[in-house]
Order: sequence, then structure tokens, then C-alpha cells
Amino acid sequence: MFDSLNPLPADPILGLMAAHRSDSNPRKIDLGVGVYKDEQGNTPVMRAVKSAEARLLADQTSKSYVSPAGLATFNTLIASLVLGDELTKTLGDRRVTFQTPGGCGGLRLAAEFIQKVRPASKILVSDPTWANHVPLLGEAGLQIETYPYYDHKNHGIRFDAMMERLSKAAAGDLVLLHGCCHNPCGADLSNEQWQAVAELAQTNGFTPFIDLAYQGLGDGLAEDSYGVRLLAEKLPELIVVSSCSKNFGLYRERTGSLTVIAGSSEAARASASQIAATARAIYSMPPDHGASVVAEILADDTLNSDWELELTEVRERINGLRSALVTELDRQGIDRDFSFIEQEKGMFSFLGLSVDQVQTLINQYSIYLVDSSRINIAGINSSNIEYLAQSIAEAVKR
Ligand code: LMR
Repeated sequence: MFDSLNPLPADPILGLMAAHRSDSNPRKIDLGVGVYKDEQGNTPVMRAVKSAEARLLADQTSKSYVSPAGLATFNTLIASLVLGDELTKTLGDRRVTFQTPGGCGGLRLAAEFIQKVRPASKILVSDPTWANHVPLLGEAGLQIETYPYYDHKNHGIRFDAMMERLSKAAAGDLVLLHGCCHNPCGADLSNEQWQAVAELAQTNGFTPFIDLAYQGLGDGLAEDSYGVRLLAEKLPELIVVSSCSKNFGLYRERTGSLTVIAGSSEAARASASQIAATARAIYSMPPDHGASVVAEILADDTLNSDWELELTEVRERINGLRSALVTELDRQGIDRDFSFIEQEKGMFSFLGLSVDQVQTLINQYSIYLVDSSRINIAGINSSNIEYLAQSIAEAVKR
């Protein structure tokens, strides 16, 4: 059965982790996979997570099964974090939320659910989008098409072209939007642009599907969910997948959620039963630990405040690194304007380098980044920033 198989190339993002790990150059820098790193280059367990884990260890009385929907308290609390308390209340039974195995699990669960109820639906994704969106959604059977998004030349959003393409989307089509901190480009829709998307969706009837993987890493928890909340308020139907990997630092615990907002409570109940059956057929139930930790934090004022404080520190550090990188690149006298990096949000920005220049950075300088020249800003620190900027300057001159 396996004799004729050929190995596949490494994953374009995860493959960089292994390559960086096996590089013996002491100056190596990992700007590949999107994990937060502190000034020492560590990815710490957040303080509130540590405290919540200690409580769970002391208080948890059973490891019995929960359900395909996961932990009910987590689902209620995470819905409020994403949508806000008031809107969650207003939506009432039109909203259903499922705990999922990470944001990836949420994306796949949503795609499998849609494929079941409306096979081969069309989903429009931004050009560019996160590399893993395509297999996660496409391998479930959805038909993937793209809409224009990032202008590599002017480092902005091609909003008119995007709207022109979306104006051709109709009822039954899905449009994947990045809730904040666009991965890979870091260029986010303004509030006015979200309003225009909401109006178009109202007129044309397409269903927005929002991937909110970085809530709190851009401008703040509420600010980063402006688009999600607006669309949830205005539209009859919405799909939102959120991740706790980055904002709670729970990467390996696979903690995420899928929220579906339907036009009526009956439609939401029917959707919930379909999603439960879909989850049951794929993985039965999501892993508990990360969701229990998040529920413990969000339900407790002290833990919640400490978590928000640490998340603010993370966000401010990333924004500070954006400015520091622009200053350092300017200092190297590169004849290019990198100021767009300061305007972009979240972990990622493109450096605007060619694949050859990226390969030079990897092979000659041990600086690991995705071929598209996407960098994880959080991998920069005060010890490596000068070497990074010098290396970019040299790679650009070649
Ligand atoms: C990334 O884009 O680097 C992260 O979302 C991690 C991943 O799984 O690709």
C-alpha cells in the first residue's frame, strides 16, 4: 500500500522551524512560524495560564468525556470575548459556539459542515492569504477562488479591486476575511472599509467567514474585533473562527472556537446538530486542557486582568519592534521605504524581497523567513535587530 508513495516537500511555514533548529550558526534568527517570542527569544507560558493550570490541577475532579461541542463555559465566555457581552446577549439563540481543536480545527470543522449542507460551495479568499487556509478549506471540498487584497508595490490594500470582485459574490458564496492582523501581510481593513463590506454582504447576500486568529495583538481586544462585531450585528448569517494560540499563548494545546450565527434560533439549533455530527465524525471531541484554562481565566476577574495586562505587553512589544526595525533598516541606508511595516498590525509583514533574496538570507545569513518574505516581527529582539537589518541590506544589494 505504501510502496509507491513519495515524500512531500516540507510545509512552507512549519518546515522553517525544523531548518532553524538544525542550523548551528549562533547568529541564526527564526522569523518563520508565527509564535510570540520575548526579548530573550523564549515563548513563555503566560502568567494567568500558569495560575489557571495550577487551579485546574488542584480542583479538577474528572477527565470524563465532555461533548463534541466541548466545554459549555468556554463556549459562552469565548463568544463574549469575540463578540462582546452586549451583542452576545442580543444574538441570543441565533448564535452557537463550538470549542474546536485550535483555529485550524475550527476552520476545518466549518468547511466540513458547509460541505455537508451545501456541497462544493465557493469560498473567496484574499490574495494573499495564510498558506494553510487553502488545504484546510479546499480539502474539505470547498471551491476556492481569490479576491485581490494586498498591493505589494504600494504596501496597501487594493480595496477597490477587492470590492469589485466581492460584488460578484452572491447568496450561497462564502467570503473569508481576516478579522485583524492579516496573515501574511499585516494590512487590515479600516472601520470604514469593514462598513462597506458589511453593506455589500447585505446587498448581495454572500456569507462572510471570519478567521480571527490574532485578537488582541493588533490594537486591542475590542478594537481587533470591530469587523466581526459589525458583521454579526448587521447580517443574518456569519461564521467566525477564533484561536487562543496567540492571545493566550496556548499553541500546542489546540484551543479555538467556531461560532455560527444563523437567521433564526431554529436554524441555529439545526446548524448546531449538524456541526456536532460533523465533529463527531472527524475527531469526536476537542481536547479539554486549553479550553479549561481559558474558561478559568475569563471567568475570574484577577486572572482576566493579569491576562489582559500581559497581552497588552505582548502587543506593545510587537508594535515597538515594528518601529525599531524601520529605524534600523533606515540606518543601514537601504534605498527603500520600509515605513509601511510600522503601519501594519500583528505578527506579520512582508519585507518585499524576491525569493532569491529570501534564499540568500536563509542560506548565507541563517535568517529564516517564508519565501514570500513574510517575517514574524516577534522573532526580532535587541540582540539580533542590527544583524538582521545589515543582512537585509546586503541581500538587497546583491
Ligand atoms: C503562521 O502563520 O505562522 C501560524 O499561523 C502558524 C501556522 O500554523 O502556520
